Amino acid sequence: MKRIENYDLSAHNTFRMKVKCALFVEYETVKELEELDFDSLPKPVICIGAGSNLLFTKDFPGTVLHSAVKYIKYVDMGLDEVFMAVGAGVTFDEFVAKACEAPYWGAENLSLIPGEVGAAAVQNIGAYGSEVKDIIAGVVCYDTVERKKITLKCAQCGYGYRDSMFKHAQGRYIVTSVLFQLTRKYSPKLDYKGIRTALGLGADETPQNLSPMQVREAVIRLRNEKLPDPAETGSAGSFFKNPVVSAAQFAAIAQGYSSVPHFIVEGGFVKVPAAWMIDQCGFKGASQGGAAVYEKQPLVLVNASGEALPEDVIALENRIIEGVKQRFGVELQPEVEHI
Ligand code: EPU
Repeated sequence: MKRIENYDLSAHNTFRMKVKCALFVEYETVKELEELDFDSLPKPVICIGAGSNLLFTKDFPGTVLHSAVKYIKYVDMGLDEVFMAVGAGVTFDEFVAKACEAPYWGAENLSLIPGEVGAAAVQNIGAYGSEVKDIIAGVVCYDTVERKKITLKCAQCGYGYRDSMFKHAQGRYIVTSVLFQLTRKYSPKLDYKGIRTALGLGADETPQNLSPMQVREAVIRLRNEKLPDPAETGSAGSFFKNPVVSAAQFAAIAQGYSSVPHFIVEGGFVKVPAAWMIDQCGFKGASQGGAAVYEKQPLVLVNASGEALPEDVIALENRIIEGVKQRFGVELQPEVEHI
């Protein structure tokens, strides 16, 4: 087990905020986690993955726990349904690549999403018409209150859009592994805008000879066109959630903007892309100190200078929230967790 006091977290948050935590603990086995004396740790205690969806707003006075549990086990009995049990510390995209290589269907649309498997299950990450909950059969956690291992079925995890019960349990559950259910059955999901084009297909074409790897490569091409390369530019992916508004609110927006992109969701509500609203407000490329709105995808805030401070990001965030509220009457909610 790694245990370091006054630890610099720059390498543990993809926004690359230069902040420190009082204690950093990295465990390599679940047993090490179970044996950890939680009472003695500086509080609060948080568990992070690759830090790809969070913004440290200042130095963290407590303990940051990180999983280095990295195993991938295949449960393949020759049926259509196949399972992969994956340790929380595995890079999510490494799991996706292995699933596609197998070749199993189900994970390919989630290619290249930054972060680790444990955080993916907490956050219900999604992209290109898939959400990780669609392929989660179960989640194994350590319950820090009862001090025991628990196994939850997908239906017990309270999944919603970028949401789960884990996010509301104030750190009670630490995800230690995830059981993914994938399939051998031919099942490409090509309907999200851009995927067919990236595969060189026509608007309604669904060929019968694609492989998960081909879809993965198309998704990777799409992401690379629009999102900053994490190796070069610090960011936490989409900074805001796409707001869901009432039919009446949508009608009011559509009155001023007849071409507003939108998607009807459950209950007659309407999802309007936050990227579009931010774009309409003219924020593309806007900057604040070292932080900026990414030119190619304005839903993403970036550490443009490499030296951005948490307060730069927060000031830019507030400017955007205010601008969008004034113009559209919609209050954007951050998707990125603020710590
Ligand atoms: N748009 C603009 N201007 C732009 C870019 C986009 O107006 O410069 C509008 C367009 O109408 C476009 C729409 O915004 O059709 C939606 O854009 P996009 O399809 O890129 O997706 P998104 O809604 O902005 C979501 C996820 C992304 C995921 C993509 C692709 C959220 C918060 N974000 O973004 O997830 O990669 O779909 O599936 O749901 C992440 O969560 O970190 C993330 C990157």
